[in-house]
Amino acid sequence: MATHVDLIRWQDEPAPAPWWFLPLAFLGAAYVAAVTLRLLAYLTLCLHQRRPNNDLRRRYGAWAVVTGPTSGIGRAMALELARQGLNLVLVDLDTTNLQEISDTIRSRHGGVETKTVVFDLSLVSTDQGDKPLRRLREAVDGLDVGVLVNNAGVAWPGSVYLHEVEVEAWVRMMRVNLWAVTVVTAAVLPGMVARRRGAIVNIGSASSEAIPSFPLFTIYAATKRYVAQFSRGLHVEYAGKGIHVQCQVPFFVATRMVENLAEARRLSPFTATPGAYARAAVGWIGRGRASGTSCCEVTAAVLPGMVERGRGGAVVNLGSAASEAIPSFPLYTMYASTKRYVAQFSRSLHVEYANKGIHVQCQTPFFVETTMLAKLEEEVGLSVSPLKVSKDTYAHAAVAWIGRGGPLCTPGGLLHQLMWCITAAVPESVLDWIVLRFTTWNRGR
Ligand SMILES: NC(=O)c1ccc[n+]([C@@H]2O[C@H](COP(=O)([O-])OP(=O)(O)OC[C@H]3O[C@@H](n4cnc5c(N)ncnc54)[C@H](OP(=O)(O)O)[C@@H]3O)[C@@H](O)[C@H]2O)c1
Repeated sequence: MATHVDLIRWQDEPAPAPWWFLPLAFLGAAYVAAVTLRLLAYLTLCLHQRRPNNDLRRRYGAWAVVTGPTSGIGRAMALELARQGLNLVLVDLDTTNLQEISDTIRSRHGGVETKTVVFDLSLVSTDQGDKPLRRLREAVDGLDVGVLVNNAGVAWPGSVYLHEVEVEAWVRMMRVNLWAVTVVTAAVLPGMVARRRGAIVNIGSASSEAIPSFPLFTIYAATKRYVAQFSRGLHVEYAGKGIHVQCQVPFFVATRMVENLAEARRLSPFTATPGAYARAAVGWIGRGRASGTSCCEVTAAVLPGMVERGRGGAVVNLGSAASEAIPSFPLYTMYASTKRYVAQFSRSLHVEYANKGIHVQCQTPFFVETTMLAKLEEEVGLSVSPLKVSKDTYAHAAVAWIGRGGPLCTPGGLLHQLMWCITAAVPESVLDWIVLRFTTWNRGR
């Protein structure tokens, strides 16, 4: 029989913790530690960025190439780079504007040299675009180009639904915002690789990185998503060659682009001046981590009918886990970047057309047993057999997902869901390392 003292001791003893308490506490502590580490890393970078001795000329080379330097952010970046003693190759579509910025730079910064290349970037990858591209290649040939700023960009047509605008206007936007970034980078990279040094800055946008969708600016945000993924892949691919690739994603900067927005005045408390942005942006160069038109055309062709009939509809775009589950897919950078475009394109359309009864979805499979995967396995020289599902299994799951769930989904059964969870839990730098090893496996043999 329990004595009075036993009873008091029994009442004081804490109840034993349930079995799940310890693992949960461990997970919580790991999460808090990861967030704290990220915050500390970011603060260290901010402090580092404020140190004035980021001598870009000595570190990377004497020349910088800036696209879209006649207005807004590009103009301010060109002036800031000139202030830091870099010579400039200025690429823009208007001869008079180019002459004006070139004269301004020379008069403000004696000793700084400039070259101008007239290039309407909306003509990239067309017949008329070949000649100016040749001129750009000739202009940089033999120059010690250390810094490239891919800044030129357009946000119009904007504030419109996809089905309201001629596809050609969207394609022009894609050529400037996404294709030109690729082509100009490809023109400048060989020299940097040969010299084993360089810094590439691609101007992305917070509209694709900080918010999940940017409805009515769908194509703009999707092109910027491409730019972010493109930069991320190149960052991993070229780090070992001394080239630092970065995607800067500004929020609002008081330029012509923002002035064109109807809400411009209301946004003014949140906008930075181009000069302030450029000072900070140039300070970030070389520091910190990087952060398909046919899909648009086909969707744009189908949407008007769906809207008109008023009976709703479902649009499924095939993205890829290569851009959504892993942070970079080096040596397959362009592929992953186009898939990032597709994901962002679908995401914004999902929000835009939801109240019209149209469900837009991007399905992002991992490994499905197809010819494309067989080719990849052959190229890499590795089999991913245990991780792939058959075409039929995928198709069965994929059809079941149509019209269901959010704008992004991964059909493919339990195996693919599990792979999502694992990739989400592994730190990005570890995934970068693993994927780079995977894609370069065969090259080293
Ligand atoms: N402002 C913001 O809040 C903000 C936020 C996030 C991202 N961004 C990005 O920042 C970059 C610069 O934008 P911004 O705000 O400075 O806009 P901006 O003032 O309109 O300047 C755009 C620049 O790109 C050039 N450009 C446009 N189309 C071109 C073409 N077809 N060929 C060659 N050059 C062309 C323009 O040349 P012309 O002057 O001759 O037309 C201009 O120099 C863009 O990539 C934009 O997406 C801006």
